Amino acid sequence: MRLLLIGDIVGKPGRHIVTQVVRKLRIEEQLDLVVANAENAAGGSGLTPAIYHELLAAGVDGITMGDHVFRRREIFSILQSERKIVRPANFPATAPGHECAILRPRNKPPVAIFTCLGRVFMNPVDCPLQAAQRVLAALPDDVRVILMDYHAEATSDMQVMGRFLDGKASAVLGTHTHVPTADERILPGGTAFQCDVGMTGPMESILGRRIDRVMETTRTFRPTHFEVATEDVRLYGTIVDVDPETGRATAIRRLCIDQAEADRLAG
Ligand SMILES: [Fe+2]
Ligand SMILES: [Fe+2]
Repeated sequence: MRLLLIGDIVGKPGRHIVTQVVRKLRIEEQLDLVVANAENAAGGSGLTPAIYHELLAAGVDGITMGDHVFRRREIFSILQSERKIVRPANFPATAPGHECAILRPRNKPPVAIFTCLGRVFMNPVDCPLQAAQRVLAALPDDVRVILMDYHAEATSDMQVMGRFLDGKASAVLGTHTHVPTADERILPGGTAFQCDVGMTGPMESILGRRIDRVMETTRTFRPTHFEVATEDVRLYGTIVDVDPETGRATAIRRLCIDQAEADRLAG
């Protein structure tokens, strides 16, 4: 079976390209399941209930979040009541939301999705390795296909998680840096791995935000509003093929849809 993880969707431009292409992509690429990281989907930070529903309507099956998960308070009720969205698993158990979702693609076995935050150059959180172990231990026996979105800053952190879950998860794919890495491979135990799948949003930017605003604050220390940029919008993600019997990955491939390709798909 074939899974796609879409990298951090940034603001309206990111949502627009998702809406333009995901349904067509599902057919052209024969995707069984589409998961997207949506921590930046609302104005560049956080997620709202309306945007949650917009992404599902666009053909996304499951949503992972990251360090910006609680930026919009409106999302708390969705995090609590909906079972297609996960907050980081290495938050305390008292934090709103669920740490794992079991998605059920049509005519295919169930797929568990979860996410953890890294700890290098990020705010303090619980041990991501222990959290991942706890999530896996709690899964029902019939769930063999597991997609982990590791939301981390450092490639070293990512590699530790990849090796830790090798043979235990079908895929460990990174998000958060908004920059795709060219290291996609299948680890010896059968886990598809990539440090970061990239972002879905405007490339003529700094991580999706207006260059002039980020530059101004960096040079002067004067806070500015890091407005979402608009130009050269692309969708970055990674496609993984998994043997549903064993849960092992058989192929991994990077995906980049630029505006011309998006227009072709939408046309
Ligand atoms: Fe992000
Ligand atoms: Fe992030």
